[in-house]
Amino acid sequence: MKILGIESSCDETAASIVEDGKRVLSNVVASQIDEHRLYGGVVPEIASRRHAENISWVVRESLLKADCTLADVDAVAVTYAPGLIGALLVGISFAKGLAMSAGKPLIPVHHIAGHIAANYLTHADLEPPYLCLVISGGHSHIIEVRDYTHYHVIGRTRDDAAGECFDKVARVLGYEYPGGKFIDAAAKKGDPNAYRLPRPRIPDSEFDLSFSGLKTAVINTVHNSVQKGETISREDMAASFQKTVADTLVERTMSAAKLLGSKKLAIAGGVSANSGVRAALETACEKRGIKLYMPELKYCGDNAAMIACQGYYDFLAGKRADESLNGIATLSLDRISE
Ligand code: KG4
Ligand code: ZN
Repeated sequence: MKILGIESSCDETAASIVEDGKRVLSNVVASQIDEHRLYGGVVPEIASRRHAENISWVVRESLLKADCTLADVDAVAVTYAPGLIGALLVGISFAKGLAMSAGKPLIPVHHIAGHIAANYLTHADLEPPYLCLVISGGHSHIIEVRDYTHYHVIGRTRDDAAGECFDKVARVLGYEYPGGKFIDAAAKKGDPNAYRLPRPRIPDSEFDLSFSGLKTAVINTVHNSVQKGETISREDMAASFQKTVADTLVERTMSAAKLLGSKKLAIAGGVSANSGVRAALETACEKRGIKLYMPELKYCGDNAAMIACQGYYDFLAGKRADESLNGIATLSLDRISE
């Protein structure tokens, strides 16, 4: 069964054809990052306009690359939540039009469920139940994936998401937006023990995460050095910051795995591309006999193959949308599992 996936929740216009939730026949991503970089972050109004300009050719290209026509597609899956509302609505409206005109089922897909499903594209052997650490630009969650369409969020960030924190720290160190990958590269050349940074603690929760204190500590350290005329080593700060984030994520995720008795852990989202986080989780999982699943780097960030993949499982579970489908800016994964 071939599913056409469409993703437009943030700053990537993407379309992909995936067969049986496994075989990626095409994966087209049009990034707007170069334009948003000028403003140091995603400008929602610009994002919506670029999606409107790009969506037609991106979908056409995904069909061409997969050597398909719309007639060969069995269903259209589209991200409907969460995300920038104007951006979501471009993909949703386009998907509705396609599905209605071609007489195909329309499947509404949750963006975070899509990120999690990116693991099925890389690991044919991964099956629920398992634990998943979702770390992206807008979300940081520890999630019990109970089956392909049921989730229980057991930990979430109380403030900034991990990716947001990477991007803000990158900015104060003088890197371009989005700075996660620059921190990753700089950290490879720095000393992770050069700066002592606070480890986030949440007194009343074992699994929730918090990154704003860490972010503020880095910003204050950098500003204090500038005021004193001292130079800061960007590489050392990047390495110290990244190690603190990785240690925190490992500690929280391993506590959750222990409590739930999970022997399988997956990671997902843009920050799951981070080499320090990957290495720290690898070591921790190996020590505890936990099997670790990580998506290929090309499926860590936003893409539509993950939406088509999750769309396949949502289709099998009977999820369908009609012409009244609307976008939802904020929607917890717990809510779609009720
Ligand atoms: O999942 P994603 O593409 O978009 C959202 O759904 O939010 O995540 C984007 C985030 C950005 O904050 C970006 O800086 C971060 O992922 N990111 C990284 C790396 N690559 C992307 N963060 C740390 N290390 C990386 N290698
Ligand atoms: Zn995303």
